[in-house]
Amino acid sequence: MSKKALLEIDGKKYELPIIKGTEGEVAIDISKLRAMTGGVITMDPGFKNTGSCHSDITFLDGEKGILKYRGYAIEELAEKKSFLDVAYLLIFGDLPTKEELDTFVSDIKDESMVNEEMKDILDGFPRAAHPMGVLSALTSALTSFNPSSVNVSSDKDLYKAVVKIMAKFPLLASWTYRKNQGYPMNYADNSKGYVENILQMMFRIPTEKYKCSSTVINALDQLLILHADHEQNCSTSTVRIVGSSHAGLFASISAGVSALWGPLHGGANQAVIEMLDEISNDGGDVDKFILKAKDKSDPFRLMGFGHRVYKNFDPRATIIKKAADDLLKELNIEDPTLKIAEKLEKIALEDEYFKSRNLYPNVDFYSGIIYKALGIPSEMFTVMFAIGRLPGWIAQWKEMRANQEPIGRPRQLYQGKVDRTIK
Ligand code: CMC
Repeated sequence: MSKKALLEIDGKKYELPIIKGTEGEVAIDISKLRAMTGGVITMDPGFKNTGSCHSDITFLDGEKGILKYRGYAIEELAEKKSFLDVAYLLIFGDLPTKEELDTFVSDIKDESMVNEEMKDILDGFPRAAHPMGVLSALTSALTSFNPSSVNVSSDKDLYKAVVKIMAKFPLLASWTYRKNQGYPMNYADNSKGYVENILQMMFRIPTEKYKCSSTVINALDQLLILHADHEQNCSTSTVRIVGSSHAGLFASISAGVSALWGPLHGGANQAVIEMLDEISNDGGDVDKFILKAKDKSDPFRLMGFGHRVYKNFDPRATIIKKAADDLLKELNIEDPTLKIAEKLEKIALEDEYFKSRNLYPNVDFYSGIIYKALGIPSEMFTVMFAIGRLPGWIAQWKEMRANQEPIGRPRQLYQGKVDRTIK
């Protein structure tokens, strides 16, 4: 392949460098375009064709359905490694040795409390507030209790900040649910593992002994791994762009939580179950909803279908689908909404509209189902996704600062009125 792309504007020719990624991806470097052309920019709403950074964290090929973290296939990681192994891999670049993992786990345990005054902030929210909004606010509030900014050139400082947020984020996530339910706040039990702690902090009630099967813990662990990073998606790009102004790690992650909340992104897992319930309450006529999804005058979309980058099956969906099938069998769960999900999946996969647009079930279609089977309430689905995505956000923020990326500041094409005067 040639090393330059040629661009011609008004008869003037410009050469733009072509750069290649380690997996063979090709990009045209337009970083000097404005300077070369005297002000011409490129337009790409939604950044469908625009690379915003160089990264060595996650590779995905949406056409082939490939996802790798730091070079390891997601299938292998999900089968052989724990969530904290994968978090360490994403954040620090390599899988941890046994000693490194032990230290990481123990350091996280040492940071597993937050200042009690955080509860005053939590008290200020109405009980009905959506947990994602509360989580975003509490994550941002962490900055006030840890005001010293992270010195990004100090590995020690960075490590401390990483451990703090890894430890405190699940606690805060659990508090958003406790508040919503009117339950007393729980704390981590340092005799338990990271994932078991998430469950017990969220769901243990004071009057009963909390029991949680290894099936449930392992299913959640795997789900968190599958969500741990997904390169430059909406929330991750948000974290990077907020951090590019040199805003701190916690503030940047708080912004990522807000971005993830939306139903076109992480909020889709909640929207899937709500959609299945809607179909069920409407009498269970799946065909009617398929027709609605295809009708361009109807804003209804099949939640959990389609993906910005996967134009083939989402490899995470393949793993989750199997995990969901196994889990439902093992827990012996019969649920009418799950039957609707199966029917919907089958019809959509055979329908020309969905086939021609490469609209396959995505990770959120099955994760909603798994969360439901695990007994997690639907308003907490996106919070669970956020816990899973946390290592990815941290890794991407850290990389962005280490690479000394410039402040993120897109251009625009102004199409408004010109030269008005006040009469
Ligand atoms: N149901 C019906 N039609 C759809 C759907 C859907 N779920 N998704 C896309 N389409 C149609 C869309 O109307 C368009 O049709 P046409 O070409 O006739 O105008 C075509 O497919 C392309 O859609 P698009 O909106 O241009 O695609 P996009 O890449 O901008 O959007 C998406 C991707 C994920 C936002 C979209 O597929 C969607 O809204 N899906 C439902 C929400 C969802 O499940 N989101 C979770 C994504 S996975 C988790 C994550 O990583 O965040």
